[in-house]
Formats: sequence, C-alpha cells, structure tokens
Amino acid sequence: MFKVLFVCLGNICRSPSAEAVMKAYVERAGLSESIFCDSAGTAGYHVGERADARMRKHGAKRGYDLTSRSRQVAFPDDYETFDMIIAMDASNMRDLQDLDEDGQYEDKLHMMTSFCQRESTDHVPDPYYGGADGFERVLDLLEDACEGLLQHIQIRR
Ligand code: 4NP
Repeated sequence: MFKVLFVCLGNICRSPSAEAVMKAYVERAGLSESIFCDSAGTAGYHVGERADARMRKHGAKRGYDLTSRSRQVAFPDDYETFDMIIAMDASNMRDLQDLDEDGQYEDKLHMMTSFCQRESTDHVPDPYYGGADGFERVLDLLEDACEGLLQHIQIRR
C-alpha cells in the first residue's frame, strides 16, 4: 500500500478536501487497494471535529464527501507510516520540517501545488476567514494537484 498524508493548519478545510478529492480520483482509477489517503493538521485546535460545514457544502456540490475528523499530525509516527506528506502552504511545510529536526524524512515532504499542471501558484490559500470564492478556489487547485499527484505516484510505483 502506498500511503499519502495531506496536511494543512486546522485539518478542517484544505487537507480533508485534498483527502476526499484524491480518494475519488484513486477510486475512479481502480487503485483503492493500493493507494491510501489520510489528512492531518499541524495545529490541534479542531481535533475530533468534522470538516468545516462550508467546505463540506462546496465539496458536495462537486461530488466529494468529506467524512474525516480532524487530527493533529504525529511525529515520528506519521513520518514513518506515510510515503508522502503533502503540505498546502509554506507555513505548513515549515511546521512539518520543524517536527523533523534532523531532516530524516525530508524526502517525504512535498508541496501540494508542486503537482499542479494547469494552475500556477505556490500554495493552496487558507479559505477559513474568506467567502465562497475561497472554497471554490481550494477545490480548483486540489483537483489540478490531485490529477498530477496520481500520475506522479503511478510513475513512481
Ligand atoms: P485549514 O483551515 O488549515 O485549511 O483547515 C483553517 C481552519 C481553522 C483555522 C485556520 C485555518 N483556525 O484558525 O481555526
């Protein structure tokens, strides 16, 4: 099983959406038995909560079911378990790198937007304090990135 962990700040908007989009793409490709997806937050503010209701609503409009509960990323367990740990923005990446003080797992850490093939941006913007457009923008970026990520994994495996 190839394991991918998506990481944002609160694990209630961007990373649970990335998890849901990627799971949908993996399922569509018939790879559910070989690629496992999960998500986590660098912060623990929302641990145990479902994804943000606005994010769930925007996801549902595109057919994505956001079912995960927020959890905080665990060092070193998640770094051992997952093959790729994928950050939504530079701050998430710094937090992930800070946990991995010795840089032992640096090859597993990636930026989500590095897998985008159509969109040209260096981060998935936090939609939490904004309006509806922000949630749609998150989904646009994640759909693009997940397509590229699935291709990347298929080539790598
Ligand atoms: P996320 O969005 O990192 O995409 O889940 C946020 C959720 C909650 C907060 C910030 C960002 N917060 O400050 O509570």
